[in-house]
Amino acid sequence: MSVVENIRDTHDISLEELRQILTTDDSEAIETLRAAAREEADRVYGKSVFVRGLIELSSFCRNDCLYCGLRRSNDQAVRYRLSEEQIYQCCEKGYRLGFRTFVLQGGEDGWFTDERLVPMVANIRRRFPNCAITLSLGERSRESYQALYDAGANRYLLRHETADAGHYARLHPAEMSWQHRIDCLMQLKEIGYQVGCGFMVGSPYQTVETLFKDLQFIRQLQPHMVGIGPFVSTHNTPFENYPNGKVETTLRLLSIIRLLHPHVLLPATTALGTLHPQGREKGILAGANVVMPNLSPIDHRKDYAIYDNKICTGEEAAECQACIEHRMRRIGYEPVVDRGDYKE
Ligand code: 5AD
Ligand code: FES
Repeated sequence: MSVVENIRDTHDISLEELRQILTTDDSEAIETLRAAAREEADRVYGKSVFVRGLIELSSFCRNDCLYCGLRRSNDQAVRYRLSEEQIYQCCEKGYRLGFRTFVLQGGEDGWFTDERLVPMVANIRRRFPNCAITLSLGERSRESYQALYDAGANRYLLRHETADAGHYARLHPAEMSWQHRIDCLMQLKEIGYQVGCGFMVGSPYQTVETLFKDLQFIRQLQPHMVGIGPFVSTHNTPFENYPNGKVETTLRLLSIIRLLHPHVLLPATTALGTLHPQGREKGILAGANVVMPNLSPIDHRKDYAIYDNKICTGEEAAECQACIEHRMRRIGYEPVVDRGDYKE
């Protein structure tokens, strides 16, 4: 049996199989992997690609992740925070454009206390009862996650960044704990959120071994979503001189994740689109099934600068949506704006 069939049929992969897939330059083998992953995605989700409206709430962050342009030590980062009214307006706009999932994402901004955030989520829930509310606001207490869930949030995205504690320690300052990040993910799952984890591809010090741990972690957590994108070297961060992650490796990992976990919601990320003009299309064709156009107010877009050269910073929400929908149709996929729930 071929390696690809083995992964597909057992939903498992060995370290040696992973190494083989990531290092091969046999274009036929790579195409076999890609086609098998896309076939699995088609089998579960058909030709649909879920479109989620992304709202970037705040570029303030208390953390100091070494790779991120929004780290607190980056004194060149421009900081903004949307007002409550602006956030509702973004949701309104998204709703009018057809979106039934909102992703509220932001740095770990201390302004968003539970006292402020919980009523805001409750208001969004009341105004948009048929929409899914996804939060991506970093590490918070279990009580906070519970209160936000009770207020109406349904999904939470929190990338684990790496499943190797030693690797995590090289990407983050000492005050950030890998164990705490993992505990947060477990708590989110226990509370009942649909949970998304994820990691960067090609982050400094990443190896086949750490990637293998990422895949094992995903198998163990059984998340509903997995967000992966290439590391993008970013100015005025400690990693500004490290090379970008590879688009090709990201695509192979997307395919592997699809084969391991056929039902997973898997975005073709903006980072992938940043490093290759057709990165997101390639991501879909490698087995991804979600895209996230930007709904944030245009005057703040460029300031949510997690990494350099981020795309979609100059377009109005409707333009970004039309652009991504056109891109999906051009490769034979149908953009779907409904809730797009995980299929059991
Ligand atoms: N390149 C690519 N992705 C990055 N992220 C943060 N900085 C970078 C970068 N330089 C990702 C992290 C984080 C998410 C919000 O963006 O994985 O969890
Ligand atoms: Fe945002 Fe093309 S997808 S501008």
